[in-house]
Amino acid sequence: MKISKAIFVKSAGQFKDCKKSNLPEYAFIGRSNVGKSSLINMLCNNNKLAKTSATPGKTQLINFFLINENWQLVDLPGYGYAKKSKALRESFSTLIIDYCIKRENLVCLFVLIDSRLTLQQIDLEFLEWCAKNNIPFSIIYTKADKNSKNELAKNIFAIENSLKKIWDELPNTFISSAEKHVGKEDILEFIHYHNQSFGKLPK
Ligand code: GTP
Ligand code: MG
Repeated sequence: MKISKAIFVKSAGQFKDCKKSNLPEYAFIGRSNVGKSSLINMLCNNNKLAKTSATPGKTQLINFFLINENWQLVDLPGYGYAKKSKALRESFSTLIIDYCIKRENLVCLFVLIDSRLTLQQIDLEFLEWCAKNNIPFSIIYTKADKNSKNELAKNIFAIENSLKKIWDELPNTFISSAEKHVGKEDILEFIHYHNQSFGKLPK
């Protein structure tokens, strides 16, 4: 699948401001600065679509993008933002929690993990929370261009070993680099596959 049209729809600061939609939706979440907005721009071939920044905490609202006029991408605020108070930094905002739990047309939440690091406590907590709350999610490892091939394989192996301690089965995973356009086809293929069956399965 190719993205031929990507339009910014709106921002929402509270869940009640998220316009109801019957379109299949895919959202990106992860620690501040992990590369959510950059990945959305890479998928859409438009570096100006979602605002990116080297300073963590850039995206504070939920931003909706209409893609090819029939599905939506969502840029969520990051968690674990270092400049927030300790309590806020170590928890997930009501906005994030409400969106993930209540958004009926959410097909998949892509949880982004920095491929250069070991599994961070806050990522582990968020992934466990998703599983406990039956949120459909996949993992995307980001910034793959910043590692050598060996380092990348080693880091992902270590992260997956940590996850195998808590789960019998691992979720779907993707490797990406917004910088080098890695992962685009796999992620768009996954979305395309899910778009096909959206609304067709019995509830
Ligand atoms: P918040 O909105 O603050 O939560 O951040 P975010 O997760 O949306 O991150 P953003 O896309 O703004 O990227 C943060 C920084 O990482 C920017 O300086 C990007 O240029 C850089 N970055 C993002 N993706 C990649 C990547 O794949 N490779 C490299 N080398 N840098 C990246
Ligand atoms: Mg962002």
